[in-house]
Amino acid sequence: MTCHTAVNHHILLFYLLLLTPFTTADDAAVIKALSTSISPTPSTWTDSTNFCNWNGITCDNSNRVTAINLVSKSLTGTLPPNLNQLTHLKTLNVQRNSIAGDLPSLANLTFLEQDLRLSYNNITGSLPWSFSGSQIRNLWLNNQVLGLSGTLDVLSTMAQLEQAWLQANAFTGAIPDLSNCTVLFDLQLRDNQLTGLVPESVTALTKLVNVTLQNNKLQGPLPVFGNGVVAELGTGTNSFCLDTPGPCDPQVTVLLEVARAIGYPMSLAQEWKGNDACQKWNFIGCDSSGKNVTSVSFGKQNFSGSISPAFANLTSLRSLLLNDNNLVGSIPGVLTSLPNLQAFDVSNNNLSGPIPVFPDRVKFVHIGNLLLGQNVSDGTPGSGPGSGNAGGSSNGSTKGVSVGMIVGIVIGVLVFVVIILFVCYKCYLKKKNQKPKTVQDPEKGKEVVKVSALQSQSSGDHTEMSVFEGGNVVISIQVLREATNNFSEENVLGRGGFGVVYKGILHNGTKVAVKRMDSGVMGTKGLKEFQAEIAVLTKVRHRHLVALLGYCMNGNERLLVYEYMPQGTLSQHLFEWKEHKTNPLSWKQRVSIALDVGRGVEYLHSLAQQSFIHRDLKPSNILLGDDMRAKVADFGLVKSTPDGKHSMETRVAGTFGYLAPEYAATGRVTTKVDVYAFGVVLMELITGRKALDDTLADDKSHLVTWFRRALISKENIIKAIDQTLVTDEEETLESICRVAELAGHCTAREPYQRPDMGHAVNVLGPLVEQWKPSRPDEDDGYGIGHHMSVPQLLQQLQADEGTSRMFDDSFDQTQSSIVSKSSGLVDTFGATGR
Ligand SMILES: Nc1ncnc2c1ncn2[C@@H]1O[C@H](COP(=O)(O)OP(=O)(O)OP(=O)(O)O)[C@@H](O)[C@H]1O
Ligand SMILES: *[C@@H]1O[C@H](CO)[C@@H](O)[C@H](O)[C@H]1NC(C)=O
Ligand SMILES: *[C@@H]1O[C@H](CO)[C@@H](O)[C@H](O)[C@H]1NC(C)=O
Ligand SMILES: *[C@@H]1O[C@H](CO)[C@@H](O)[C@H](O)[C@H]1NC(C)=O
Ligand SMILES: *[C@@H]1O[C@H](CO)[C@@H](O)[C@H](O)[C@H]1NC(C)=O
Ligand SMILES: *[C@@H]1O[C@H](CO)[C@@H](O)[C@H](O)[C@H]1NC(C)=O
Ligand SMILES: *[C@@H]1O[C@H](CO)[C@@H](O)[C@H](O)[C@H]1NC(C)=O
Ligand SMILES: *[C@@H]1O[C@H](CO)[C@@H](O)[C@H](O)[C@H]1NC(C)=O
Ligand SMILES: *[C@@H]1O[C@H](CO)[C@@H](O)[C@H](O)[C@H]1NC(C)=O
Ligand SMILES: *[C@@H]1O[C@H](CO)[C@@H](O)[C@H](O)[C@H]1NC(C)=O
Ligand SMILES: [Mg+2]
Repeated sequence: MTCHTAVNHHILLFYLLLLTPFTTADDAAVIKALSTSISPTPSTWTDSTNFCNWNGITCDNSNRVTAINLVSKSLTGTLPPNLNQLTHLKTLNVQRNSIAGDLPSLANLTFLEQDLRLSYNNITGSLPWSFSGSQIRNLWLNNQVLGLSGTLDVLSTMAQLEQAWLQANAFTGAIPDLSNCTVLFDLQLRDNQLTGLVPESVTALTKLVNVTLQNNKLQGPLPVFGNGVVAELGTGTNSFCLDTPGPCDPQVTVLLEVARAIGYPMSLAQEWKGNDACQKWNFIGCDSSGKNVTSVSFGKQNFSGSISPAFANLTSLRSLLLNDNNLVGSIPGVLTSLPNLQAFDVSNNNLSGPIPVFPDRVKFVHIGNLLLGQNVSDGTPGSGPGSGNAGGSSNGSTKGVSVGMIVGIVIGVLVFVVIILFVCYKCYLKKKNQKPKTVQDPEKGKEVVKVSALQSQSSGDHTEMSVFEGGNVVISIQVLREATNNFSEENVLGRGGFGVVYKGILHNGTKVAVKRMDSGVMGTKGLKEFQAEIAVLTKVRHRHLVALLGYCMNGNERLLVYEYMPQGTLSQHLFEWKEHKTNPLSWKQRVSIALDVGRGVEYLHSLAQQSFIHRDLKPSNILLGDDMRAKVADFGLVKSTPDGKHSMETRVAGTFGYLAPEYAATGRVTTKVDVYAFGVVLMELITGRKALDDTLADDKSHLVTWFRRALISKENIIKAIDQTLVTDEEETLESICRVAELAGHCTAREPYQRPDMGHAVNVLGPLVEQWKPSRPDEDDGYGIGHHMSVPQLLQQLQADEGTSRMFDDSFDQTQSSIVSKSSGLVDTFGATGR
């Protein structure tokens, strides 16, 4: 609705505006707004003259503004946001001033067909989508002080474009497909932050005469323009793979394809230079030959876009980490064919579509993707994998709309029904729970079994923990929800390969750590097996093992409840102490931690009948108490072996950098796998360096290789120690060298050359004794430390059932209960005491 009334007198105009403030303003009002938003106002712009006669304003016969020319007028201020109401505007030339503010919409300016010239100002914002399909021929937006930002995508729809002067701004992303810009002859893109490959549609533009691309971060092969074109490419100032035309190295080509699917992020374009991906490209790891890419680690980079199927061309790839980004679309099924893949982590993204099935050797983690594997409303065939490009606006045909509506209604009805059923179910439970101590068959029961006993009645002997039926400590999901503030982000202690760990506080103030895993993690084990496994794990108790207090099953989810370790992980104290604002660990503390870990693992190994191998020993699985004494965590990966010797595992679990060579190569698991990992941890304690550090040069990035080279002399060892430990105290240096030697021994290439954990404990024991000679060693007992409130709580609870004995001599107790594990659920905490 446009008002065509010619208004010549401004007094009348304002009168009208006052009376009808919500009617469409006409050109006079817009020009008036312009006159107040810029300064100095040109001298001819007075209320007593018709705005059509103002300098710089041109109107047509019906007093509609067709051109604004205010070039080089030293203007400051902004362009009014209602500029786009000048629907007859054909030309807007305001270049070479100091106009600031965002580029106005310019939607509806269907006549703006010639010039939009705003160069040399301080205009910000991004190119509006309203330019789409516009008739603009000369788009001059170059040389803004702060710079226009965002992508150039809209250019691909501006078919009339002849000149695009966009240089000296802050545009990002890739140059779009310009195949429809058939009359473009002048393309100025230099001095921006453009990334990605120069599309063929640009080099193929037939009318092109001059083009500048320098001072961006453009990637891929050097573009080749036609003969008559004056092109400034800036080989040195971009990130092209070669200085001369020709294709990039195949791996580079694949990685650029991978980058395309995530919008060519600047962090990659800046660092991925040259034609060899193994030359210190960030996020990329290569094999020892320095030829083949073996790892891509994009975790926690806030990347958005999709997972490129081109990853499948990196056939040497062993580890692909894409976790904690904003990736959408589906997981390309072709990735299952990667022959060497061992670790694939896509957790915490927004992926959808089917969950591909990987071979057993692959540790595939995909939690934290709500839509993954949910094919409820997906009726469209062939919505297969691929570069699920964002923003593919479908032409919403009427059919599409009605289908969408039907789906919507159906989902709505379903949700409603589910809610009703849920409410009914709740009521039913509530009724049931009023009967005290309902005991159900745990095999039938869901997670809510035994809630009745818990409801935190605070009446003495009842707490949040349920009874120990089947040897398992079942904890209800409600209790865990309450304890963790409904699994709030604030309670997150950390994230690991299997899920998120939350801090929880039970009603009585006891702190716990709740590990929330998704269904896949415990394997496809049935309820019974899971319970049996937990039954064993809850019984493996030792002063230097983090106690598993109980578990919860909620649908497909499995939650494990551990004792809370207030000082967090060893890795935090070793590698991240600056970030956490804590002191670096002293050498005393480090040896003491090493001994604690050694004892914990020795205990696991020493269990008769059924030997336990940890398989994932590393600093993030070593947790610290307030006294800085350590406990070994994470029994999730502990696998019991039938004969105490070894077992063949098809699936290699564990973490790169800590894997013993024979384990990585053959999957053969013996206790010596833990000894190896323990040796790596010792090296980390000595050097303060991580087992694998991709940021270092190749010859230093693998700690074991590097450290073992340093072992040749004491001087070299001293050079390798953590900066924070540097001292000339002979006693300390002796101690460090002794541990270094042990570390070398533990990481011997052949398993049989490595000592057993008992030996390691014997070496470390005296080194710790050194500092506390007068104190009787409390560590020799296998009891639970006095600071452990939760087991005490359990102990109290269990005392009634006659099980307190297990805490006094849990060593024997555990053995005997594991021996009888084969009898499954019948064997319980209670049973042994009865
Ligand atoms: N019992 C606990 N007490 C305190 N913090 C814990 C406890 N258990 C885990 N955490 C925290 O949660 C984080 C994640 O633990 P999680 O075991 O899931 O992963 P991880 O040890 O890093 O890797 P992996 O999955 O290989 O074990 C740890 O790094 C630690 O900070
Ligand atoms: C463009 O015009 C249409 C109708 O004339 C109007 O509804 C719409 O709000 C206008 N767009 C802008 C950005 O002003
Ligand atoms: C450019 O505009 C920004 C605000 O958009 C302002 O902070 C800055 O001072 C301006 N710079 C110049 C040189 O005008
Ligand atoms: C070019 O124009 C055609 C016809 O309008 C359209 O179908 C096509 O999507 C356009 N190409 C690009 C890259 O925008
Ligand atoms: C590009 O070439 C055209 C025609 O030769 C010329 O008018 C224009 O000024 C040139 N642009 C630049 C930025 O050099
Ligand atoms: C990946 O490999 C396939 C088949 O060998 C090939 O067609 C494709 O072009 C390759 N992709 C890239 C990006 O190299
Ligand atoms: C690197 O990859 C190529 C092709 O996949 C393969 O032939 C070669 O053996 C690999 N090199 C190493 C050292 O793994
Ligand atoms: C992550 O990316 C989104 C857009 O992709 C952006 O809005 C957000 O600010 C980014 N977050 C961080 C922490 O960089
Ligand atoms: C996840 O992606 C879907 C579309 O696939 C989108 O509707 C939803 O908003 C996204 N969720 C988040 C948290 O980004
Ligand atoms: C998709 O739905 C069908 C039918 O509802 C079901 O059989 C199939 O298992 C589902 N697939 C996935 C990946 O959830
Ligand atoms: Mg862990």
